[in-house]
Amino acid sequence: LGNGLALTPPMGWNDWNAFGCSVSEQLVEQTADKIVSSGLRSAGYQYVNIDDCWMAGSRSATGDLVPDPVKFPHGIKGVADYVHARGLKLGIYESAGTMTCAGYPGSLGHEQQDANSFAAWGVDYLKYDNCNNLGIPARQRYQAMGNALARTGRPIVYSLCDWGQENVASWGGSVSNLWRTTGDIDATYGRMLSIFHQNVGLADAASPGAWNDPDMLEVGNGMTATEDRSEFSLWAEMASPLIAGTDLRHASVTTLATYGNKEVIAIDQDRLGRQGRPVSMTGGLDVLAKPLADHSVAVALFNENAAPAKISTIASALGLPAANGYTVRDVWAHTTTATAGAVQAFVPGHGTVLYRVAATSMPGRYPPHVMLTTTAPA
Ligand code: DGJ
Repeated sequence: LGNGLALTPPMGWNDWNAFGCSVSEQLVEQTADKIVSSGLRSAGYQYVNIDDCWMAGSRSATGDLVPDPVKFPHGIKGVADYVHARGLKLGIYESAGTMTCAGYPGSLGHEQQDANSFAAWGVDYLKYDNCNNLGIPARQRYQAMGNALARTGRPIVYSLCDWGQENVASWGGSVSNLWRTTGDIDATYGRMLSIFHQNVGLADAASPGAWNDPDMLEVGNGMTATEDRSEFSLWAEMASPLIAGTDLRHASVTTLATYGNKEVIAIDQDRLGRQGRPVSMTGGLDVLAKPLADHSVAVALFNENAAPAKISTIASALGLPAANGYTVRDVWAHTTTATAGAVQAFVPGHGTVLYRVAATSMPGRYPPHVMLTTTAPA
């Protein structure tokens, strides 16, 4: 969407995956504090997002949405002020239907009134769900809220949640900043894998300001540490939103290190805004390539299977220029090696090795005295 927002994929946190309907002002504010104190804010996490169940059961006498007075005693405005004071932004949730999925008042037919409330409260991001939609075409319902948000004049990132229905990847970018491409994720390897497969072929739809959204992260919620790193690597490789979905207040050192890996985040947030594409996906051994602004390529070697396996490719297959040699940066191991062209790794079951590969010298590009002299051991 050309609203100037989300020029790189949005980063932040959302309560739904870990807490479901148990959202509150206290949870949101404590999480905001943890995002700051853990260093995740400096790593790029910005949006603190409230999901379903934040509302009272009915609208006010004037038809306005009302925050649940027990969960949000200071209203959404109070939480927005709190997170803004900490250099973060606030997200909220609604549904393009008569009710949210959990049965709270929906925004269908109330788009402008509700958008005005969000803007008045200081909301910076809207996740707009698809429940109870009366069968009205999605694009019509989602465009109505998009128009309403634009009319408020407040910059609000617009996130569609229509679960990949009605071919949303083909029109999501003209209506919104990001759109869900699948049903709900859960904290299992099988579900994460299925969602990866549904999202991985949609690279054509992604560009700065317009992103495929394979749902919020489950890192820290029950997969193994290897699977968690796979999810984080694959989401970064696919230029996906990085919305943490765990209880950050009580997250382990390992979980915080996964969310906080700045080299992986840099691949996700690369300003070129290209979603990685499959180079080969054979027998559950996947190679993906994502071109980056500095002419290097982010390469994900993902082993879908349970047994460890060698995964190999070559520089030319990754779209890298012919060169005398290449550097291979392993962004999880934080090591750099050189190669003449083979790019490969032994990858643990369910694991992903994520590399940033760059040409070190291009024949004929520089005069001899500035040619780099890196040799290329295998
Ligand atoms: C369905 C969405 O896909 C989920 O992410 C979450 O927002 C729930 N609805 C909330 O009811």
